Amino acid sequence: MTLEKTTVSIGLERPVKLLHVTDTHLDLADERDDERKRRLAGRMGSPSEKHILEEQIAYAHENCDLLVHTGDLIDFVSIPNVEAARRILKDEHIFFIAGNHEYSQYVGEAWEDAAYRMNSYMKMGYGLGVPMFFNSKIVGGVNIVGIDNGYYRFEDWQIWKLKREAEKGVPIVLAFHDPLFEESLYQEHRRRAPNSCTYLVGCDEEHLLPYDEFRAVQQRPDEPTLRMIDYIRSEPLIRVILTGHLHFDYVSNLTDSLVQIVTGGGYEGIAREVTLV
Ligand SMILES: [Fe+2]
Repeated sequence: MTLEKTTVSIGLERPVKLLHVTDTHLDLADERDDERKRRLAGRMGSPSEKHILEEQIAYAHENCDLLVHTGDLIDFVSIPNVEAARRILKDEHIFFIAGNHEYSQYVGEAWEDAAYRMNSYMKMGYGLGVPMFFNSKIVGGVNIVGIDNGYYRFEDWQIWKLKREAEKGVPIVLAFHDPLFEESLYQEHRRRAPNSCTYLVGCDEEHLLPYDEFRAVQQRPDEPTLRMIDYIRSEPLIRVILTGHLHFDYVSNLTDSLVQIVTGGGYEGIAREVTLV
């Protein structure tokens, strides 16, 4: 595995170490799945990625307080993918929040919205055995809070729950799949992929202008999303965001006291050790 290392100073008495892993994209299917799912199997490089994930989990057990997985653990909903994810997520050393692919039936075959997500959620047996839409866990004096934003939006109930987490009074590390808009990250994505949208949450109309119409509709923020972003940027206890989805590494500041860390694709063997001090 490739291990990136990042240290963020948030004024802790004792350091907390997190292993950030994202976008594993397990891509298993077997004879219990239909032909269409079987054709998707292996598209991201299984089974080597499974082996990499095992290595990452072993590393986290030995060296870190927690492994934080920010979604796309599976590439699509299949029987062996759901079985593997449920088995992996039983490990209490792993904190998980869902990405967009957790609910993907055939990868890009349908408009993905709340109804699509809930249908997939029910098909996988009401989720993967852990909270999927909002999750929190205190480790070493830091509150890790996971929020599903895999479809580029937040919902008002998630703001209520995040405010309740802030009442606990300890520093917060947010974990979610899709990164928030930040100018230098937007430009970096445009540089890497000039013809692509940037998949960032909260782009204003000016930054959506180069998008094709499908991607602009898909990623245009709604009012609750903008409210959530305002809240995240203004709450001083929120110090770090761990995120993925882009499949490349990038670190930048959203505000003077808030760092956003994008970690590259777990399917390529990338993990990041984040040391909070
Ligand atoms: Fe993703």
